[in-house]
Amino acid sequence: MSYEQILVFTEGAVGRVQLNRPQALNALNSKLMAELVDALQQFEANPAIRCILLHGDEKAFAAGADIKEMADQGAIDMYAKDFISLWDAVYRIKKPIVAAVSGFALGGGCELAMICDTIIASETAKFGQPEINIGVIPGAGGTQRLTRAVGKATAMDMVLTGRMLTAAEAKDAGLVARVVPPEAYLSEAQKMAAAIAAKSPVALQLAKESVLQAFETSLAGGIHLERRLFYMAFASEDQKEGMKAFMEKRKPEFTGR
Ligand code: CAA
Repeated sequence: MSYEQILVFTEGAVGRVQLNRPQALNALNSKLMAELVDALQQFEANPAIRCILLHGDEKAFAAGADIKEMADQGAIDMYAKDFISLWDAVYRIKKPIVAAVSGFALGGGCELAMICDTIIASETAKFGQPEINIGVIPGAGGTQRLTRAVGKATAMDMVLTGRMLTAAEAKDAGLVARVVPPEAYLSEAQKMAAAIAAKSPVALQLAKESVLQAFETSLAGGIHLERRLFYMAFASEDQKEGMKAFMEKRKPEFTGR
C-alpha cells in the first residue's frame, strides 16, 4: 500500500509513523486510518522493528475523527462501515507504541493517543473529548479509556463540557507519562522508543499484554495472568541471555527468541 496521509520511517529498531494531513489538523478520515493500520501491521510483522512511535506535527497530533466525512452519515451507514473498528485494529498491535503529542489531541485523536501504550507530551499539548460540542459522544473508547486513566470527575468534566486539558493537567491526571518543552517532545519520544526497542521483544510483548489486562480483569485474575506470563518468559532465549549478561556484568544482546 502506498501512503498519502501518513509518513513512515524506520530508525534502527523503531518504526515511526507521522500523521500527515496538516491542512486538516490531522483529522482522522477513513483513508488515513486505513493507512495507519496498514503501516502498524507492517511494523508488527517485521522482526527488525521492536517499538513503534506515533506522532503528528507541532500544531496537532490529531484533532479528531474527520467531521466533514461523518457529517452526512446516517446511523446505518456508520454501523455498516464500522469506521471506528480501525481504532480497535491499533489496539490489537502487540508491539509497544509510544505516542508523541504536540498541540491538539482531540476526540478520536485523544482516543488514538490513549490506545498507544504511553504518551510523551509537549508543553503545548491539549487533550480533549469535545464531541459534546457537535452533538455526539466519544466513539473510539473515550468514555472508557479516559475514565480509567484520569478518574470519573475529570473524565466527566472533559466529556460533558468539552473542556481541553493542558499538558500539565494531563500529567497531573495520569494521562501522560512525561511533559517536555515543545522543541524536545519528538526527540524525547524517540529516545524513549529506542530505549524500549533495546529490551527483549519477547518480554516487551508479555509486559504489554499483562499491563493491558489490568483494565480488563479482576486483581486476582490479572495477577494470575501476570504469573503465567512471568513463567512463560523463562521459555525464551532472551531470559537466559538477560540474566547471564547481568551476572557477567555486560549488556545483554536480545534476539527476540
Ligand atoms: N474534522 C475535520 N476537519 C477538521 C477537524 C476535524 N475533526 N478539526 C479541524 N479540522 C479542519 C478545519 O475544518 C479547518 O479546515 P478548513 O481550513 O478547510 O476550514 C482546519 O482543520 C483547521 O482548523 P481550524 O481552522 O478550526 O483551526 P483552529 O486552530 O481555529 O481550531 C480546533 C482548532 C479547536 C482543534 C478546531 O479545529 C476544532 O474544534 N476541531 C474539531 C475538534 C473536534 O470536535 N474533534 C472531535 C471530532 S468527532 C470524533 O472524534 C468522534 C470520535 O470519538 C471518534
